[in-house]
Amino acid sequence: MQDLKWWQKTTVYQIYPKSFLDTTGSGTGDLRGVAAKLDYLKTLGVGAIWLTPVYPSPMVDNGYDIADFTAIDPSYGSMEDMEHLIAEGRERGIRMVMDLVYNHSSDKHPWFIDSASSRESRHADWYIWRDPKPDGSAPTNWRSIFGGSAWTWCEARQQYYLHTFAPAQPDLNWENPAVRQALYEAANFWLDKGVGGFRIDAIVYIKKPEEFKDGEPDSDDGLVNIHSMIANTPGILDFLHEFKEKVFAGHDIFTVAEANGISPEELDKWVGEKGAFDMLFEFSHTNLEFPTGEIWCQATGYRPELIPKLKQVLTESQQATAENGWYPVFFENHDQMRCVEHYFPAEADKERAAKAMAVLLMTLRGTPFIYEGQELGLGNVAWDSIEAYNDISTQGQYEIALKEGKSPAEALRIVQRYSRDNARTPMQWSEEKHAGFTQGTPWLPVHEDFPRQCVTVEARDGDSVLSFYRKLARLRCSGEAAEVLQQGDYTELLPDDPAIMAFRRRLGGRSVYTLVNFSGEARSYELPEMAGAELLLESVPGSTLGVLRAYEAVIYTH
Ligand code: GLC
Repeated sequence: MQDLKWWQKTTVYQIYPKSFLDTTGSGTGDLRGVAAKLDYLKTLGVGAIWLTPVYPSPMVDNGYDIADFTAIDPSYGSMEDMEHLIAEGRERGIRMVMDLVYNHSSDKHPWFIDSASSRESRHADWYIWRDPKPDGSAPTNWRSIFGGSAWTWCEARQQYYLHTFAPAQPDLNWENPAVRQALYEAANFWLDKGVGGFRIDAIVYIKKPEEFKDGEPDSDDGLVNIHSMIANTPGILDFLHEFKEKVFAGHDIFTVAEANGISPEELDKWVGEKGAFDMLFEFSHTNLEFPTGEIWCQATGYRPELIPKLKQVLTESQQATAENGWYPVFFENHDQMRCVEHYFPAEADKERAAKAMAVLLMTLRGTPFIYEGQELGLGNVAWDSIEAYNDISTQGQYEIALKEGKSPAEALRIVQRYSRDNARTPMQWSEEKHAGFTQGTPWLPVHEDFPRQCVTVEARDGDSVLSFYRKLARLRCSGEAAEVLQQGDYTELLPDDPAIMAFRRRLGGRSVYTLVNFSGEARSYELPEMAGAELLLESVPGSTLGVLRAYEAVIYTH
């Protein structure tokens, strides 16, 4: 039997602190709010919390624009509040995982302010500066991930600076050893505080190509997605291994990197014993509707034909780490729409859909990451004007859609589906005003379904999505299935079925079977090896072996 580390046996819960719980009436969540809900998280089997950034920030990208890497933004509380949270978590066996946003800083970070002040400043070479083209235009035609040119002009230096994301998020120059050293020191600061790990943001962009060249435009704006020009540039692994050596190595923590587009062949350099990280977030299953890149108005929307593809990419990612490495399993985060809308048609029974995704999340091989509100089965919001949306990428994508010839109504429908605000509405705690999230005015409106979908209501109902998650948590933590779910190998079953995802996890002589029906029709299946298997969990009461009702999910064992 493999000796698993603590983070391979636990469940991680992702918190978007701004939307979790407000204890001061400010309308935005805070660290005391997180500390107040640790016992709630225990009921979900959570052993670690990934906190999206809580550092001082002008909040252009809600904290992913950091102005100080070793302090706490006053809206979230103080350093004492953070220490209190770490200590309270430790008492309950829950460790805090910080988000390291090291591809860029805020343009209000003192390093950037100094760097932008003149070409001779102390931090002159801490960011990516380039002269204009002879005609004065930007050095390349790269489009930033949030839309618009990836270059912004600086009067004082008479140069452009590069930003993979918003102009307020200038890219740091990792080629400069002093920059790397400063970033490592900041991460070590948090290790000294006792954090249990790091989620590393947008790491595939830190290494830039030697030569900066124009790319073939991929949209009517004449620009090309920067991702295709700079992601995973050769040489990046040298930085990452240095990062590991100077920060992570020798600590009983885990690291999970946001790293799209790493092929199975290169995986062993990225994760596992010889890899730079413990895990990496891989997005092939969340990107199925984006065959041509990240432009929302070019996405396909939900189509049942994507389900076989979903099955395929999930199986591929299970196989990629079968021998070496380990993956996080996730269907939601603060950048994604809600999974009940993502993988099911609009008319689907949302409660069944939420339970089906819960079953996959908790029975695939890997560490499950639950995103706040996913355990309540929350769906997307659909606000009726673009002004209602806060997310910076939503605004950028709306503009791109208009430029591509969509009408304002069509552009709005597109952002309603893909907006990151779908996942950022306040957490729904109770039937009280604003779902118990705040005594003040919430920074984003609470989801309309809150009286039905909130913790207090769902905790009282044994058949709710929340109760279902709690049952799954127990299944993963104790009993005969637990070890199989943590350690067992993975084999896909019914690979040719267009709507049922089925697999077997096996350890020693015990097997656990998961079956999920993504279609709205009852479907029968034949799996002779399951004869005599015992039902462990069903999403709809009264299941029978050999048939799945619409959107039903079951777990069996023998
Ligand atoms: C990552 C984060 C996202 C953020 C971006 C820029 O993709 O998950 O929320 O906007 O990086 O830091």
